Amino acid sequence: MIDDYVRIFDTTLRDGEQSPGASMTTAQKLEVARALSRLGVDVIEAGFPAASPDDFAAVRAIAETVGVEPVPGRTSEAPPVVCALARATRADIERAFEALRPAKHPRIHTFLATSDLHMRAKLRMSREQVLERVAEMVAFARAHCADVEFSPEDAGRSEPDFLWRVLEIAIRAGATTLNIPDTVGYTTPEEFGALIAGIRERVPGIERVVVSVHCHDDLGLAVANSLAGLRAGARQAEVTINGIGERAGNSSLEELVMALRTRARSIGLRTGIDTTQLVPTSRLVSACTGIVVQPNKAIVGANAFAHESGIHQDGMLKHAETYEIMRPEDVGASHTNLVLGKHSGRAALLARLETLGRRLEPAAVDRTFARFKELADKKKLVTDADLEALVQEELGVSAPAFAFVGLEVRCGTGGPSQARLELCGPGGARVAEAQGAGPVDAAFKAVDQLVGVSATLVEYRVQAVTAGIDAVGEVAVRVRAGQGAAVHPQRDGLPRSFHGHGADTDIVVASVKAYLQALNGLCAAAPGSSEGDHAAYAV
Ligand code: KIV
Ligand code: ZN
Repeated sequence: MIDDYVRIFDTTLRDGEQSPGASMTTAQKLEVARALSRLGVDVIEAGFPAASPDDFAAVRAIAETVGVEPVPGRTSEAPPVVCALARATRADIERAFEALRPAKHPRIHTFLATSDLHMRAKLRMSREQVLERVAEMVAFARAHCADVEFSPEDAGRSEPDFLWRVLEIAIRAGATTLNIPDTVGYTTPEEFGALIAGIRERVPGIERVVVSVHCHDDLGLAVANSLAGLRAGARQAEVTINGIGERAGNSSLEELVMALRTRARSIGLRTGIDTTQLVPTSRLVSACTGIVVQPNKAIVGANAFAHESGIHQDGMLKHAETYEIMRPEDVGASHTNLVLGKHSGRAALLARLETLGRRLEPAAVDRTFARFKELADKKKLVTDADLEALVQEELGVSAPAFAFVGLEVRCGTGGPSQARLELCGPGGARVAEAQGAGPVDAAFKAVDQLVGVSATLVEYRVQAVTAGIDAVGEVAVRVRAGQGAAVHPQRDGLPRSFHGHGADTDIVVASVKAYLQALNGLCAAAPGSSEGDHAAYAV
């Protein structure tokens, strides 16, 4: 008889970070890892140390922090396990273990594909070779670490008899968790449930390990497939915040957890997640990755609890359960929007940040408080969203190559727009003037003159984060190295994109800050930079 506890394995920092353009700095990953600890996840997959020196550094930093420093507010008893991914090779496994060395509860997660297509076309290995490699590498990982997870990649399309043999061998070699990935999001809930049930019935020794599900969302079925796998006896679900991940993404943590909680009576399973942390964590991940959450996204979208039609509003006023199956406060969707003003002090700011799930270092609090005071002087009331925008700016601060000093713009109908920009760069303060088709175009041309790197702007988005014409505008940009570079970003050697965020009551200033942050990331990633690849810095 298996118990009713579902372990939540969060892979936002590994599979999620594989989303096109979602790369994060080590500081941002650490911030997300702390938020995941507060959220109460059981396992944090911190990265893939063999992929790059940056990945290694991020896993190491998380291993040094999570489970070591106290986590105020964590409701789950045990600290999260910190996990690192490794291909089934000695070098990858050693690298993963090295990155995990300081972790209190380390886990090595190794994988090898088991579908005929992957073995033939990608690995060029026979079935016998795959069986041998799994036995050898799981045992090798187990010799380094007591907690070993094995994933047969593309299990969803693997031939069941062969898959069962692979899993049996992995158990014999010492795996403690067997994760079953639907790598390409191909299966339907009935098929995926049957796959897990078949594994539980047919693999000798399966009762000694935890069976896990890892579903991708190519057909929009990831959460449904994960639920089907859990109903069939899996007791770990691999998920990401906001469902980010390769291609269409992974099973979304917030959706799966809230489905288990809201339908607990019919499903009969539980998790250790503090659901009031879901919205703050979602916002943090969105801000760090630059991936915007669609307004109608279940649980964490801006409209998830908004009622527009008159009939619905009428029903809501009479009884909230007429149109709400969950309470907004249960997922941390704050109703109190307007809270701070120019007379609010540091303690009030800190208390508000805490409610938003943000904890900053003392120096970062000082800077954020100074920015908050500036903003409160310009606006009467500073909202949660304004604060989020300020904190987001703060998150990546780490010695940017170019810092914003000031901007003047002339625009209107009387001719081309003109911008005069001052930046502080490696050689000190410098000024550039440029003309453009509009104020943002002129300002970006001035940035290009001063920064002097070749980049292509691939995305530019502006949104008002609060209501009112004095709201803070938030700008997100994405750039790619070189002129007219490939449209599809790739890992490992091919062009990557760098995102930047800027927030200001002046959207041209916000645009310049965002553009500069992205270019600073690009500069930091350039060969010869000590920061390695895909780092981004705030200005
Ligand atoms: O989707 C997948 O197959 C993976 C494995 C590495 C578990 O992410
Ligand atoms: Zn995956």
